[in-house]
Amino acid sequence: MKNIVQFVNRYGTDCVKWDGLQEKYGNSDMLSMWVADMDFRCPECVHNAIKKYMECGAYGYDMLSTRFYKAFIQWEKECHGYEVEPEWIRYSTGVVQAFYWCIVCMTKEKDSVLVLPPVYYPFFDAVNQTGRTLVESDLVWNGEEYRMDYADIEKKISENNVKMLLFCSPHNPIGRVWKREELEKLSEICQKHNVIIVSDEIHHDFVYENFKHIPMTLIQKENTVILTSASKTFNLAGLTTAVAVIPDDKLRKNWDSLATKIHIFEGNSFGYLAGEAAYLEGKEWIDQVKEIIYRNYVFLRDQLLKRLPKLEIAPLEGTYLMWVNFGAYLDSSEISGFFEKECKIALDYGEWFHGNSETWVRFNLATSDEIIEKAAQVILEQADKRNW
Ligand SMILES: Cc1ncc(COP(=O)(O)O)c(C=O)c1O
Repeated sequence: MKNIVQFVNRYGTDCVKWDGLQEKYGNSDMLSMWVADMDFRCPECVHNAIKKYMECGAYGYDMLSTRFYKAFIQWEKECHGYEVEPEWIRYSTGVVQAFYWCIVCMTKEKDSVLVLPPVYYPFFDAVNQTGRTLVESDLVWNGEEYRMDYADIEKKISENNVKMLLFCSPHNPIGRVWKREELEKLSEICQKHNVIIVSDEIHHDFVYENFKHIPMTLIQKENTVILTSASKTFNLAGLTTAVAVIPDDKLRKNWDSLATKIHIFEGNSFGYLAGEAAYLEGKEWIDQVKEIIYRNYVFLRDQLLKRLPKLEIAPLEGTYLMWVNFGAYLDSSEISGFFEKECKIALDYGEWFHGNSETWVRFNLATSDEIIEKAAQVILEQADKRNW
């Protein structure tokens, strides 16, 4: 098979992942494996669509969005087996903005919003910065995988009169792809207590063999919002285009009323064109990307475990994020020093994600073989120096 995925050196492009190292970690000379975007040039069909648009050289008002939404609907049907009605779809500048908007327009100030840590840290900010009350029910690590604690979820919901669950599926950072039975159980609890589920499904195209992503709207349509985007799948985050799928009429009205007040209905042409092209022609590209990521996961996992058998590594069912517990070797106070000063690797730290994760770290696997090999090498060299 022809290799159509190309690694790119992104230094000097103002990218957060590499050019932002100095600001984030105080050192620009590090292996960057933090923020969740990819070091792969996006599929050729995206460049072709953008090049074609740029040929004209005029960037006036455009009418592109219906083609983009059609392509999105087709993608969701073919890849995830669910039918999105065109009238359910709304535009957002990003999935993060979209869950802020959901909180603002579907709950009231001080209402409680539940999250299941360890989880993508903007969830906490979104609840706190919108003046809602953050309620956390930790996922439980049983030594092999994370599970939801349904009894605790229900207890937290009723004790705090929770109005909304901000859910992540597949789950960043733990790499779980939730099974149908798990989603059904969660849905049952939320329906019983009239809790809106906002399901962040931005990682839904990164699901590996033997696992299947189940969109939340296949479990329940009322009181449900799915947020997703081509940005994670095809490395387009800078083009700020995401979608909300809102089958529930009442929630859609809430959304529309906010969108009217802030007057945001659609975005920039680059985002639509790139998304449309990627959804129509990018399948082979993302399939190859997933192969690379899974190979990187197996390599890094096996290299680390061979020498450091007491590490705990969450199985990668979905996402491109590897979640590793160094607690058998490092105290929580040593984690950042070890990775930043000794290994010179930039990672996301477990404490950012809450949920008793202070000794865990998150590696971004969407990069070149060389960077993955180098990461394994430096960690193992430093392990030798520390006589682990
Ligand atoms: C779970 C999750 N949601 C949302 C985002 C970001 O979405 P956007 O760039 O569309 O705001 C990320 C990026 O890492 C993510 O992991």
